Amino acid sequence: MADLFCGIDFGTSNSTVALADRSRAWLLPLEAGEVTLPSAVFWEADGPPSFGRAAVTAYVEGVEGRLMRALKSTLSSSLIDERTAIGNKSVSFKAVLTAFFRHLVTLQAAQTGPLASIILGRPVHFVDGDPAADARAQAALEQIARSLGFAHVGFQFEPIAAALHYEQSASAEELVLIVDIGGGTSDFSIVRVGPERAKAADRGADILANDGIRVGGTDFDRLLSLAQLLPHLGYLAPTKGGLGTMPRHYYLDLASWHRINFLYNQRVAADLKALRLEAVRPELIDRMMKVVAGRHGHALAMAVETAKIALSDAPAARMLVSDLTGGPNPVVRREGFETAVDAPLQRIADTIAAILQQAGLTPERIGTVFMTGGSSGLPVLRTLVAAALPQARIATGDMLGSVGTGLALEARRRFG
Ligand SMILES: Nc1ncnc2c1ncn2[C@@H]1O[C@H](COP(=O)(O)OP(=O)(O)OP(=O)(O)O)[C@@H](O)[C@H]1O
Ligand SMILES: [Mg+2]
Repeated sequence: MADLFCGIDFGTSNSTVALADRSRAWLLPLEAGEVTLPSAVFWEADGPPSFGRAAVTAYVEGVEGRLMRALKSTLSSSLIDERTAIGNKSVSFKAVLTAFFRHLVTLQAAQTGPLASIILGRPVHFVDGDPAADARAQAALEQIARSLGFAHVGFQFEPIAAALHYEQSASAEELVLIVDIGGGTSDFSIVRVGPERAKAADRGADILANDGIRVGGTDFDRLLSLAQLLPHLGYLAPTKGGLGTMPRHYYLDLASWHRINFLYNQRVAADLKALRLEAVRPELIDRMMKVVAGRHGHALAMAVETAKIALSDAPAARMLVSDLTGGPNPVVRREGFETAVDAPLQRIADTIAAILQQAGLTPERIGTVFMTGGSSGLPVLRTLVAAALPQARIATGDMLGSVGTGLALEARRRFG
């Protein structure tokens, strides 16, 4: 097929594949007519892996195997070179990532035929303050794309891609602050956009600043879980004799999407059994043991995430976990959530101030803030952005698809 340009937005939570031709850009349907594919892999003990919603369904139905989510987070840690146990086998995280990408590329090729070139999105920083680790993360993605047959692999910052998406609807030239708060990272760009600017071959001069931090919705889930749910499972619970509290790391693993599977081994089960004897309230540890023995970690994380999202529309929500833990269904209020995530919100506010400074701009110079990424749905983030840029218009668009379509537009610019 002639003159088709492709971009892939591999997200921590959701992925999209977009195409552009000479006149427009659009997202490809990936699963049951949906244009987003949850970045989830279910690796069956005996059988082929499944992906996206099907992977989550296999896990929920209790098929023997491992669910893996937030795989992108492994790129920014040493985990990418490690292996994870699945049944009697072990598989490398790189193999799991490659399988997920192969699935995306197979879906794309079925609709377009094979393509030689691809633009992949990337956060401004995969890893905060470690350029060498950052370069390794991008190199790992590039290697995966090449292994899948792409001869030309390019990268673009996710917020710049979102700017290109936004620019399609811009009617006049203006300075836009892109705020992309996703599942794993928060990314920011200040870009000059406009119908005339869009035609320029080189946009370098229109990009005034970029910055990003490794903070996103999966962190909000973790902090909400630690603050409001895991104390019911023994997190920070005292041990006998007033000597201390339960070790924290099991709970940190349970609250972190990409670390949950590390709990599922006999050593952890034995440790919890021993710790139960030390606990002042052993019934709390029983709940933790029930979650680990039943491999309910992801189901617990999903219940926390569901409550978090509900809090964007309602002042309170209930975390439905009783069947998983044998404990209560804790009610969480919006203020409680916002207190739990105060530290990362402060980092987001600081990064917005820093990017304005990097661009040498005062807040009044920004005409529009374009907010995208699933976590931009949080009311507290809207309030934060409005306070930082009181004169700017706040625009929202396709929260889950803007980066993908922007990457396809970038592919057309580079390869067209
Ligand atoms: N209404 C909402 N309120 C709060 N959070 C939401 C809402 N809708 C989705 N989210 C959160 O948005 C996140 C997913 O957003 P998105 O799909 O943009 O991330 P991603 O692109 O996969 O991640 P990243 O770009 O950081 O790699 C999840 O953490 C999800 O819980
Ligand atoms: Mg994203």
